[in-house]
Amino acid sequence: MVKKMKFRLAFIGFGVVGQGFADILLKKEHELKDRYGFEYEVVAISDMKLGSVYDEDGLDLSRVMNMVNQGDRLEDYPTGIKGWDPLKTIKESNADTIIEVTYTDMKTGGPALEHVRTALKAGKHVVSTNKGPVANAAKELMELADRNGVKYRFEGTVVSGTPTINLAWETLAGCEIKEIKGILNGTTNYILSKMEEGMEYEDALKKAQELGYAEADPTGDVEGIDAQGKVLILSNTVMGADMELEDVAREGITGISLQDVEEAKKEGHRWKLIGSTKKTEGGIEASVGPEKIPMDHPLAGVMGPTNALTFTTDLLGDVTIIGPGAGKMETGFSLLVDLLAINGAMEG
Ligand code: HSE
Repeated sequence: MVKKMKFRLAFIGFGVVGQGFADILLKKEHELKDRYGFEYEVVAISDMKLGSVYDEDGLDLSRVMNMVNQGDRLEDYPTGIKGWDPLKTIKESNADTIIEVTYTDMKTGGPALEHVRTALKAGKHVVSTNKGPVANAAKELMELADRNGVKYRFEGTVVSGTPTINLAWETLAGCEIKEIKGILNGTTNYILSKMEEGMEYEDALKKAQELGYAEADPTGDVEGIDAQGKVLILSNTVMGADMELEDVAREGITGISLQDVEEAKKEGHRWKLIGSTKKTEGGIEASVGPEKIPMDHPLAGVMGPTNALTFTTDLLGDVTIIGPGAGKMETGFSLLVDLLAINGAMEG
Protein backbone atom coordinates (compact mmCIF):
# COMPACT_ATOMS: atom_id res chain seq x y z
CA MET A 1 0.00 0.00 0.00
CA VAL A 2 1.28 3.44 -0.95
CA LYS A 3 2.17 5.63 2.03
CA LYS A 4 -0.10 8.67 2.16
CA MET A 5 -0.06 11.71 4.42
CA LYS A 6 -1.07 11.35 8.04
CA PHE A 7 -4.11 13.59 8.51
CA ARG A 8 -4.10 15.98 11.44
CA LEU A 9 -7.78 16.58 12.14
CA ALA A 10 -9.56 19.34 14.05
CA PHE A 11 -13.25 18.93 14.83
CA ILE A 12 -15.26 22.12 14.82
CA GLY A 13 -18.43 21.00 16.54
CA PHE A 14 -18.64 17.69 18.39
CA GLY A 15 -22.33 16.78 18.57
CA VAL A 16 -24.04 13.64 17.32
CA VAL A 17 -22.46 13.72 13.84
CA GLY A 18 -18.93 14.52 15.05
CA GLN A 19 -19.10 11.83 17.70
CA GLY A 20 -20.50 9.34 15.19
CA PHE A 21 -17.52 10.03 12.95
CA ALA A 22 -15.09 9.70 15.88
CA ASP A 23 -16.60 6.28 16.66
CA ILE A 24 -16.04 5.19 13.06
CA LEU A 25 -12.43 6.46 13.08
CA LEU A 26 -11.71 4.47 16.24
CA LYS A 27 -13.49 1.34 15.10
CA LYS A 28 -11.88 1.28 11.67
CA GLU A 29 -8.44 2.69 12.48
CA HIS A 30 -6.46 -0.44 11.50
CA GLU A 31 -8.67 -1.35 8.54
CA LEU A 32 -8.31 2.17 7.11
CA LYS A 33 -4.53 2.02 7.45
CA ASP A 34 -4.25 -1.45 5.91
CA ARG A 35 -6.69 -0.90 3.04
CA TYR A 36 -6.09 2.72 2.12
CA GLY A 37 -2.86 3.78 3.82
CA PHE A 38 -5.06 6.24 5.70
CA GLU A 39 -3.67 7.45 9.02
CA TYR A 40 -4.92 10.22 11.26
CA GLU A 41 -4.57 11.92 14.57
CA VAL A 42 -7.09 14.26 16.11
CA VAL A 43 -5.26 17.36 17.37
CA ALA A 44 -8.17 19.61 18.34
CA ILE A 45 -11.86 19.64 19.16
CA SER A 46 -13.80 22.84 19.69
CA ASP A 47 -17.46 22.57 20.59
CA MET A 48 -20.02 25.13 21.77
CA LYS A 49 -21.32 22.91 24.60
CA LEU A 50 -18.37 20.66 25.46
CA GLY A 51 -15.60 23.30 25.40
CA SER A 52 -12.32 22.81 23.57
CA VAL A 53 -8.94 21.16 23.73
CA TYR A 54 -5.89 21.36 21.47
CA ASP A 55 -2.74 19.29 21.69
CA GLU A 56 -0.26 19.62 18.85
CA ASP A 57 0.98 16.09 19.54
CA GLY A 58 -2.50 14.63 19.15
CA LEU A 59 -5.33 13.67 21.50
CA ASP A 60 -6.16 10.16 22.64
CA LEU A 61 -9.50 9.87 20.84
CA SER A 62 -10.68 6.83 22.85
CA ARG A 63 -10.09 8.77 26.03
CA VAL A 64 -11.95 11.79 24.63
CA MET A 65 -14.93 9.60 23.72
CA ASN A 66 -14.96 7.96 27.17
CA MET A 67 -14.95 11.40 28.76
CA VAL A 68 -17.75 12.72 26.54
CA ASN A 69 -19.82 9.58 27.10
CA GLN A 70 -19.62 10.01 30.87
CA GLY A 71 -20.62 13.67 30.63
CA ASP A 72 -17.20 15.32 31.15
CA ARG A 73 -16.15 18.48 29.35
CA LEU A 74 -13.19 18.67 26.96
CA GLU A 75 -11.50 21.06 29.40
CA ASP A 76 -11.12 18.07 31.74
CA TYR A 77 -8.74 16.37 29.29
CA PRO A 78 -5.37 16.02 31.09
CA THR A 79 -3.09 17.72 28.53
CA GLY A 80 -3.23 20.45 25.89
CA ILE A 81 -4.47 24.00 25.58
CA LYS A 82 -8.06 24.71 26.58
CA GLY A 83 -10.60 27.33 25.62
CA TRP A 84 -9.75 28.02 21.95
CA ASP A 85 -12.81 29.03 19.94
CA PRO A 86 -13.47 27.61 16.46
CA LEU A 87 -11.68 30.36 14.50
CA LYS A 88 -8.58 30.27 16.71
CA THR A 89 -8.55 26.46 16.47
CA ILE A 90 -8.81 26.63 12.68
CA LYS A 91 -6.14 29.31 12.28
CA GLU A 92 -3.63 28.46 14.98
CA SER A 93 -3.72 24.71 15.46
CA ASN A 94 -1.42 22.50 13.39
CA ALA A 95 -4.44 20.66 11.90
CA ASP A 96 -4.31 20.23 8.13
CA THR A 97 -7.94 19.17 7.82
CA ILE A 98 -11.01 20.67 9.44
CA ILE A 99 -14.10 18.57 10.18
CA GLU A 100 -16.87 21.20 10.19
CA VAL A 101 -19.92 19.73 11.91
CA THR A 102 -21.51 22.64 13.74
CA TYR A 103 -25.25 23.38 13.48
CA THR A 104 -26.80 24.39 10.17
CA ASP A 105 -28.13 27.85 9.48
CA MET A 106 -29.57 27.52 6.00
CA LYS A 107 -30.57 31.18 5.65
CA THR A 108 -27.19 32.86 6.27
CA GLY A 109 -24.70 29.99 6.39
CA GLY A 110 -24.19 30.84 10.07
CA PRO A 111 -20.80 30.81 11.81
CA ALA A 112 -20.03 27.67 9.81
CA LEU A 113 -19.58 29.77 6.66
CA GLU A 114 -16.77 31.72 8.30
CA HIS A 115 -15.24 28.50 9.64
CA VAL A 116 -15.05 27.00 6.16
CA ARG A 117 -13.80 30.24 4.56
CA THR A 118 -11.09 30.69 7.19
CA ALA A 119 -9.92 27.09 6.90
CA LEU A 120 -9.69 27.14 3.10
CA LYS A 121 -7.86 30.50 3.14
CA ALA A 122 -5.39 28.97 5.61
CA GLY A 123 -4.72 26.14 3.14
CA LYS A 124 -6.57 23.48 5.15
CA HIS A 125 -8.87 20.83 3.69
CA VAL A 126 -12.47 20.91 4.89
CA VAL A 127 -14.90 18.02 5.09
CA SER A 128 -18.32 18.99 6.31
CA THR A 129 -21.94 17.91 6.68
CA ASN A 130 -23.09 21.49 7.18
CA LYS A 131 -25.63 22.59 4.56
CA GLY A 132 -25.43 26.30 5.46
CA PRO A 133 -22.11 27.21 3.82
CA VAL A 134 -22.76 25.10 0.69
CA ALA A 135 -26.29 26.45 0.28
CA ASN A 136 -25.09 30.05 0.61
CA ALA A 137 -21.66 30.09 -0.99
CA ALA A 138 -20.83 26.83 -2.82
CA LYS A 139 -19.21 28.55 -5.80
CA GLU A 140 -17.08 30.94 -3.73
CA LEU A 141 -15.91 28.16 -1.41
CA MET A 142 -15.09 25.67 -4.16
CA GLU A 143 -13.05 28.34 -5.98
CA LEU A 144 -11.34 29.28 -2.73
CA ALA A 145 -10.37 25.63 -2.19
CA ASP A 146 -8.97 25.41 -5.74
CA ARG A 147 -6.96 28.61 -5.35
CA ASN A 148 -5.44 27.35 -2.12
CA GLY A 149 -4.68 23.86 -3.43
CA VAL A 150 -6.95 22.13 -0.92
CA LYS A 151 -10.23 20.19 -1.01
CA TYR A 152 -13.68 21.13 0.24
CA ARG A 153 -16.00 18.12 0.31
CA PHE A 154 -19.54 17.90 1.66
CA GLU A 155 -21.22 14.63 0.65
CA GLY A 156 -23.16 14.56 3.93
CA THR A 157 -25.03 17.77 3.17
CA VAL A 158 -27.45 15.89 0.90
CA VAL A 159 -29.13 12.77 2.37
CA SER A 160 -26.22 11.95 4.74
CA GLY A 161 -23.85 9.22 3.53
CA THR A 162 -26.06 7.91 0.73
CA PRO A 163 -24.00 8.86 -2.33
CA THR A 164 -25.39 11.83 -4.24
CA ILE A 165 -22.84 14.60 -4.77
CA ASN A 166 -19.86 12.24 -5.03
CA LEU A 167 -21.97 9.89 -7.17
CA ALA A 168 -22.61 12.71 -9.63
CA TRP A 169 -19.07 14.12 -9.52
CA GLU A 170 -17.14 10.88 -9.67
CA THR A 171 -19.12 7.74 -10.42
CA LEU A 172 -21.25 9.40 -13.11
CA ALA A 173 -18.35 11.51 -14.44
CA GLY A 174 -18.63 11.84 -18.22
CA CYS A 175 -22.43 11.62 -18.20
CA GLU A 176 -24.54 14.68 -18.72
CA ILE A 177 -27.00 14.85 -15.83
CA LYS A 178 -30.25 16.24 -17.15
CA GLU A 179 -32.37 15.93 -14.04
CA ILE A 180 -32.15 14.87 -10.41
CA LYS A 181 -35.45 14.07 -8.75
CA GLY A 182 -36.60 12.29 -5.66
CA ILE A 183 -37.37 12.05 -1.97
CA LEU A 184 -34.91 14.19 -0.07
CA ASN A 185 -36.45 14.40 3.38
CA GLY A 186 -36.96 11.43 5.67
CA THR A 187 -39.27 13.10 8.18
CA THR A 188 -41.93 14.02 5.62
CA ASN A 189 -41.71 10.65 3.89
CA TYR A 190 -42.15 8.96 7.26
CA ILE A 191 -45.16 11.16 8.09
CA LEU A 192 -46.82 10.49 4.73
CA SER A 193 -46.16 6.73 5.12
CA LYS A 194 -47.75 6.73 8.59
CA MET A 195 -50.72 8.76 7.36
CA GLU A 196 -51.31 6.07 4.76
CA GLU A 197 -51.64 3.63 7.67
CA GLY A 198 -54.33 5.93 9.09
CA MET A 199 -52.27 7.93 11.60
CA GLU A 200 -53.11 11.64 12.00
CA TYR A 201 -50.51 14.17 10.77
CA GLU A 202 -49.77 15.53 14.27
CA ASP A 203 -49.23 12.05 15.74
CA ALA A 204 -46.97 11.04 12.85
CA LEU A 205 -44.90 14.21 13.27
CA LYS A 206 -44.56 13.56 17.00
CA LYS A 207 -43.36 10.03 16.29
CA ALA A 208 -40.84 11.31 13.71
CA GLN A 209 -39.48 13.68 16.37
CA GLU A 210 -39.27 10.89 18.94
CA LEU A 211 -37.36 8.73 16.47
CA GLY A 212 -34.90 11.57 15.80
CA TYR A 213 -35.65 12.02 12.09
CA ALA A 214 -36.96 15.58 12.37
CA GLU A 215 -34.78 18.66 12.78
CA ALA A 216 -34.80 20.41 16.19
CA ASP A 217 -37.42 22.72 14.70
CA PRO A 218 -39.50 20.42 12.46
CA THR A 219 -40.90 23.40 10.51
CA GLY A 220 -37.83 23.04 8.29
CA ASP A 221 -38.85 19.49 7.43
CA VAL A 222 -42.62 19.79 7.01
CA GLU A 223 -42.52 23.11 5.15
CA GLY A 224 -39.97 21.67 2.71
CA ILE A 225 -37.08 23.99 3.66
CA ASP A 226 -34.69 21.12 4.43
CA ALA A 227 -35.42 19.55 1.03
CA GLN A 228 -35.22 22.99 -0.62
CA GLY A 229 -31.66 23.39 0.75
CA LYS A 230 -30.67 19.99 -0.62
CA VAL A 231 -32.15 20.78 -4.05
CA LEU A 232 -30.27 24.08 -4.01
CA ILE A 233 -27.00 22.32 -3.17
CA LEU A 234 -27.50 19.76 -5.98
CA SER A 235 -28.43 22.55 -8.40
CA ASN A 236 -25.32 24.60 -7.65
CA THR A 237 -22.74 21.85 -7.19
CA VAL A 238 -23.89 19.24 -9.72
CA MET A 239 -26.14 20.98 -12.26
CA GLY A 240 -23.96 24.07 -12.72
CA ALA A 241 -26.56 26.59 -11.53
CA ASP A 242 -25.87 29.69 -9.49
CA MET A 243 -29.09 29.92 -7.50
CA GLU A 244 -30.22 31.15 -4.14
CA LEU A 245 -32.66 29.43 -1.79
CA GLU A 246 -35.60 31.57 -2.98
CA ASP A 247 -34.97 30.42 -6.58
CA VAL A 248 -36.08 26.91 -5.59
CA ALA A 249 -39.91 26.94 -5.57
CA ARG A 250 -41.15 25.36 -2.36
CA GLU A 251 -44.27 23.82 -0.86
CA GLY A 252 -44.32 21.51 2.17
CA ILE A 253 -46.71 18.75 3.24
CA THR A 254 -48.75 20.68 5.82
CA GLY A 255 -51.61 21.12 3.34
CA ILE A 256 -52.06 17.34 2.87
CA SER A 257 -54.85 15.83 4.94
CA LEU A 258 -55.58 12.25 5.90
CA GLN A 259 -58.46 12.44 3.44
CA ASP A 260 -56.11 13.47 0.58
CA VAL A 261 -53.89 10.49 1.39
CA GLU A 262 -56.90 8.14 1.42
CA GLU A 263 -58.22 9.49 -1.89
CA ALA A 264 -54.84 9.11 -3.58
CA LYS A 265 -54.65 5.53 -2.33
CA LYS A 266 -58.02 4.72 -3.89
CA GLU A 267 -56.78 6.13 -7.22
CA GLY A 268 -53.65 3.94 -7.02
CA HIS A 269 -51.39 6.86 -6.09
CA ARG A 270 -49.24 7.99 -3.19
CA TRP A 271 -48.35 11.49 -2.06
CA LYS A 272 -44.59 12.10 -1.86
CA LEU A 273 -42.64 15.27 -1.19
CA ILE A 274 -40.56 15.49 -4.34
CA GLY A 275 -37.50 17.67 -4.88
CA SER A 276 -36.18 18.15 -8.39
CA THR A 277 -33.66 20.13 -10.37
CA LYS A 278 -33.57 19.88 -14.15
CA LYS A 279 -32.03 21.42 -17.24
CA THR A 280 -34.49 23.30 -19.43
CA GLU A 281 -34.02 25.60 -22.40
CA GLY A 282 -34.39 28.55 -20.04
CA GLY A 283 -31.78 27.25 -17.58
CA ILE A 284 -32.02 25.15 -14.42
CA GLU A 285 -35.48 24.79 -12.87
CA ALA A 286 -35.66 23.60 -9.30
CA SER A 287 -38.55 22.93 -6.95
CA VAL A 288 -39.84 21.06 -3.91
CA GLY A 289 -43.48 20.13 -3.53
CA PRO A 290 -45.97 17.31 -2.90
CA GLU A 291 -46.73 15.11 -5.90
CA LYS A 292 -49.18 12.26 -6.40
CA ILE A 293 -47.04 9.40 -7.70
CA PRO A 294 -48.53 6.30 -9.39
CA MET A 295 -48.04 3.19 -7.26
CA ASP A 296 -45.90 1.46 -9.93
CA HIS A 297 -43.35 4.33 -10.03
CA PRO A 298 -40.04 3.38 -8.30
CA LEU A 299 -40.28 6.36 -5.90
CA ALA A 300 -43.76 5.25 -4.72
CA GLY A 301 -42.26 2.18 -3.07
CA VAL A 302 -39.83 4.22 -0.95
CA MET A 303 -41.46 4.30 2.49
CA GLY A 304 -40.62 5.48 6.00
CA PRO A 305 -37.58 7.72 6.58
CA THR A 306 -35.74 6.34 3.53
CA ASN A 307 -34.59 8.75 0.80
CA ALA A 308 -34.25 8.10 -2.95
CA LEU A 309 -32.95 10.03 -5.92
CA THR A 310 -33.12 9.36 -9.63
CA PHE A 311 -30.38 10.84 -11.82
CA THR A 312 -31.47 11.13 -15.45
CA THR A 313 -28.36 10.95 -17.62
CA ASP A 314 -27.52 10.90 -21.33
CA LEU A 315 -25.37 7.78 -21.32
CA LEU A 316 -27.10 5.57 -18.73
CA GLY A 317 -30.68 6.78 -18.71
CA ASP A 318 -32.08 6.72 -15.18
CA VAL A 319 -29.90 5.76 -12.23
CA THR A 320 -31.70 5.54 -8.89
CA ILE A 321 -30.08 5.42 -5.48
CA ILE A 322 -32.06 4.57 -2.35
CA GLY A 323 -30.71 4.84 1.18
CA PRO A 324 -30.78 6.51 4.58
CA GLY A 325 -30.98 10.29 4.70
CA ALA A 326 -29.94 10.86 8.30
CA GLY A 327 -28.42 9.13 11.34
CA LYS A 328 -25.27 9.24 13.45
CA MET A 329 -23.29 6.51 11.64
CA GLU A 330 -24.80 7.29 8.25
CA THR A 331 -23.75 10.94 8.42
CA GLY A 332 -20.43 10.03 10.05
CA PHE A 333 -19.76 7.78 7.06
CA SER A 334 -20.12 10.74 4.69
CA LEU A 335 -17.19 12.44 6.44
CA LEU A 336 -15.14 9.26 6.16
CA VAL A 337 -15.79 8.80 2.45
CA ASP A 338 -14.84 12.44 1.80
CA LEU A 339 -11.61 12.08 3.76
CA LEU A 340 -10.74 8.87 1.93
CA ALA A 341 -11.32 10.69 -1.36
CA ILE A 342 -8.84 13.38 -0.27
CA ASN A 343 -6.44 10.68 0.88
CA GLY A 344 -6.72 8.98 -2.50
CA ALA A 345 -5.99 12.26 -4.29
CA MET A 346 -2.77 12.87 -2.33
CA GLU A 347 0.62 12.05 -3.75
CA GLY A 348 1.97 8.80 -2.30
N1 HSE B 1 -34.40 16.09 9.07
C1 HSE B 1 -33.82 15.59 7.86
C2 HSE B 1 -34.75 14.54 7.27
C3 HSE B 1 -32.47 14.97 8.06
O1 HSE B 1 -35.79 14.25 7.87
O2 HSE B 1 -34.46 14.03 6.20
C4 HSE B 1 -31.28 15.78 7.69
O3 HSE B 1 -31.43 16.70 6.65
